[in-house]
Amino acid sequence: MTRRLKRLLVAGAAGFIGSNFVRHLRRTHPDVEITVLDKLTYAGNLANLAELDGQPGYRFVHGDICDEKLVDSLAAETDAIVNFAAETHVDRSLMDPFAFVETDVRGTAVLCEAARKHGHEVFLLISTDEVYGDVRTGRSTETDPLKPRSPYSASKAGGEHIAQAYAESFGLPLLVTRGSNNYGPHQYPEKLIPVLITNAIDDRPLPLYNDGSAVRDYVFVEDHCRAIDQVLHEAPVGNVYNIGTGVETSGLQVAEAVLAIMGKPKSLIEFVADRPGHDYRYALDISRITALGWETQVELGEGLERTVRWYVDHPDWWRPLKSGEYWEYYRRNYRPLVT
Ligand code: NAD
Ligand code: DAU
Repeated sequence: MTRRLKRLLVAGAAGFIGSNFVRHLRRTHPDVEITVLDKLTYAGNLANLAELDGQPGYRFVHGDICDEKLVDSLAAETDAIVNFAAETHVDRSLMDPFAFVETDVRGTAVLCEAARKHGHEVFLLISTDEVYGDVRTGRSTETDPLKPRSPYSASKAGGEHIAQAYAESFGLPLLVTRGSNNYGPHQYPEKLIPVLITNAIDDRPLPLYNDGSAVRDYVFVEDHCRAIDQVLHEAPVGNVYNIGTGVETSGLQVAEAVLAIMGKPKSLIEFVADRPGHDYRYALDISRITALGWETQVELGEGLERTVRWYVDHPDWWRPLKSGEYWEYYRRNYRPLVT
C-alpha cells in the first residue's frame, strides 16, 4: 500500500532527527506540505531547518505541543501528524523529570486529541527502544512488555500508552516506531557520540560512564529517517516497528573508533561515575521493519567517519551550543569515578 499524504504536521522538527527527517521528506515527497511545530527548547535549533526557509509548501510555527488551542488550529489545517517533539536526554531526565512528563506524556495526549478531533489519516509517534528497559539477553520484539527504567523512558512509554488508548478508545489511526540510538549531523552535543567528537576536537577528556561497557545499537540518522518515511507511507495503521541495525557496540568501542578516525590518543578516554539506573543493553529484533523492505545502508564505521567530518566542518553549528547553561549541566552531570 502507499498512503498519499498531502498536509503533514511535524512536531519537534527543529531538533536532531526531526530536522533530518524533514530534509529527507522534501527529497522523497516534495509535494507534501509540511508544517513544523517546535518550542525551540535548548535542543531545538532553527539553523537545522535554515535550508528550507522560504520554500513553498514549508512553514515553521514556534509553539508548544502542550498548547491545546494552537495544536487544535494546526491539526485543523493538516491530515497527519508525526511527533518527534520530546525531552530526549536520559541524564537530564534524572535532574528534571517533570519536564519529561509534561512534554512526552501530556504533549503527546494533546496531539492525539487534536488528530482524533480532526479525523486525521495517520498519527505517527516516534518512540524509542528504551521503553523495553534493560535487556540483558535476547532481543526485544514489538509485542514485549514495556519496562522503562528512567524518567525519560517512562515518559516515552507513557506517551505510547496514551496514544494506544486513543487508538483503542477512539480509533486513532496510530503507528509507532521504536528507534535505537541515532547519530549523525545536527545532534546536540550532550549525547554520547557528539560529546566524544566535539571533546576530541578540543583535546578534552572523552567521558565514559563506569567502564564504557554499556551496549547500544547505533543507527545512522539518515537510515532511521528512511525507515520512518517508509512506515509513514506504507505501514498498515495499528502497527509498532522497531528500527535499528541489529549490531551491538559498547561505548568504549565507539570512543576508540572516534579517536582512531581523528588520529587522537586513547589516553583522552576518561572513565567517570556511572549514570544512576544505567540501562546496560538494548537490543532489537528488527525483522518487522526489514519485512517492509528496509535495511541499514550506512554501517557504523562509515557513519562515524561522516559524522566526525560534519562536526569538524561545522564548528559554527556546535561551538555556540557548548557555552553557558551547557557547561553548568556538564559540571552537574559528570562526576569522578570512585573505585
Ligand atoms: P532532540 O532533543 O534533538 O529534539 C527534540 C525537539 O523537540 C527539539 O527541537 C525541541 O525544541 C522540541 N520540543 C521539545 N519539547 C517540545 C514541546 N513541548 N513542544 C514542541 N516542541 C518541543 O531530539 P531527537 O534526538 O531528535 O529525538 C526526536 C524524537 O525521537 C524524540 O521523540 C525521541 O524520544 C525519539 N528518539 C530519539 C532517539 C535518539 O537516539 N536521539 C532514538 C529513538 C527515538
Ligand atoms: O536508544 C534510543 C535512545 O538513545 C533515545 O531514545 C534517547 O533520546 C537518546 O538520548 C539515546 O539514549 P541513551 O541514553 O542510550 O544515549 P546517550 O548518548 O546518552 O548514551 C549512550 C550510551 O553511552 C549509554 O550507555 C550511556 C553512555 N554515555 C553517555 C554519555 C552522554 C557515556 O558513557 N558517556 C557520556 O558522556
